[in-house]
Amino acid sequence: MSTLTHPEIEKKKDFLPLNGTDYVEFYVGNARQAAYYYRAAFGMSLVAYAGPETGLRDRASYVVQQDKIRFVITTPLRPDGEIAGHIHRHGDGVRDVALWVDDARQAWKETTKRGARSILEPTIQKDEYGTVCISTVATYGDTVHTFVERKDYSGPFLPGYRAIPSDAQARPAGLRYVDHIVGNVGWNEMNRWVDFYRDTMGFELYQHFDDKDISTEYSALMSKVMSNGNGRVKFPINEPAEGRRKSQIEEYLEFYHGSGVQHIALATDDILKTVALLKQQGVEFLSVPRSYYAELEARVGKIDEPLDELERLGVLVDRDEEGYMLQIFTRPVEDRPTLFFEIIQRKGSRSFGKGNFKALFEAIEREQAARGNL
Ligand code: FE2
Repeated sequence: MSTLTHPEIEKKKDFLPLNGTDYVEFYVGNARQAAYYYRAAFGMSLVAYAGPETGLRDRASYVVQQDKIRFVITTPLRPDGEIAGHIHRHGDGVRDVALWVDDARQAWKETTKRGARSILEPTIQKDEYGTVCISTVATYGDTVHTFVERKDYSGPFLPGYRAIPSDAQARPAGLRYVDHIVGNVGWNEMNRWVDFYRDTMGFELYQHFDDKDISTEYSALMSKVMSNGNGRVKFPINEPAEGRRKSQIEEYLEFYHGSGVQHIALATDDILKTVALLKQQGVEFLSVPRSYYAELEARVGKIDEPLDELERLGVLVDRDEEGYMLQIFTRPVEDRPTLFFEIIQRKGSRSFGKGNFKALFEAIEREQAARGNL
């Protein structure tokens, strides 16, 4: 027997090819009302529904969509079970960041082989529109990733959902796709989850920020951004860092009772128009001190957008070597200070607004102080 071995010369293969985010599922106390908030305030259209009327006995789910962004808003109909338990512990929040794949069986095999905890083995679902295969693995906290294979399916969402032909409540605001989804994890757990996304999901480290980048007088955090092979899926992971007072990440962990999704960034091609509409429709954003705009041009140089418009709406700007980006953050969208949204427009820049962290965190801390949590 020859014992000769050859050096690995084969190019590293992406063992988990992803087409993008398929949907984000929220577990909430009242799905009908939460869905109305995303339709009337964020401008999403109700496209599909499943519940008792479609033969589901334990839950109701509303699927709302705007361009490529799809949210599933689910509530339990009974006091026991996994959905009710999730809401009891975490409040309203994100359960599932579902990923669109060509082969859900393979995705499950490759990830569980590398240590992912299985939540649902590959399962075929069928109705008159065709067939889907779904499988699910666990990530941080009680959050999961469902792999959705829908190449043989033409229905409104998944088998069992009834299509909603049109939505008179929806007020579209120009939101286009999910840019990134951020997770908050506990003290010293960031690297464990960075390793999970690298070793188990085939992601790579994209950017990282330490507490010197992201600290204010009071609080600090550390963050690493993980990206899948084609860059369509980006998951920054935050952990708290030692500061003089309680950081916003600690406040989240305390009120969410553990790790979970902190914010979802939604991309637009015209942030001024989108944010003006969202404000008009009742979305509440963090406010920025006037001093931020006095220093803005010196920091980022010439940009296309009028400064007074940016200031009026409270939109932040950051620049890197490749271009610039505009962003704004909502207040938490539930009573617990947990999940919030970011609206982002990229003009060349592929980064995450490092230059804004300080201004942003000071704005968050003003709110934290008002809640008595700083
Ligand atoms: Fe973000």
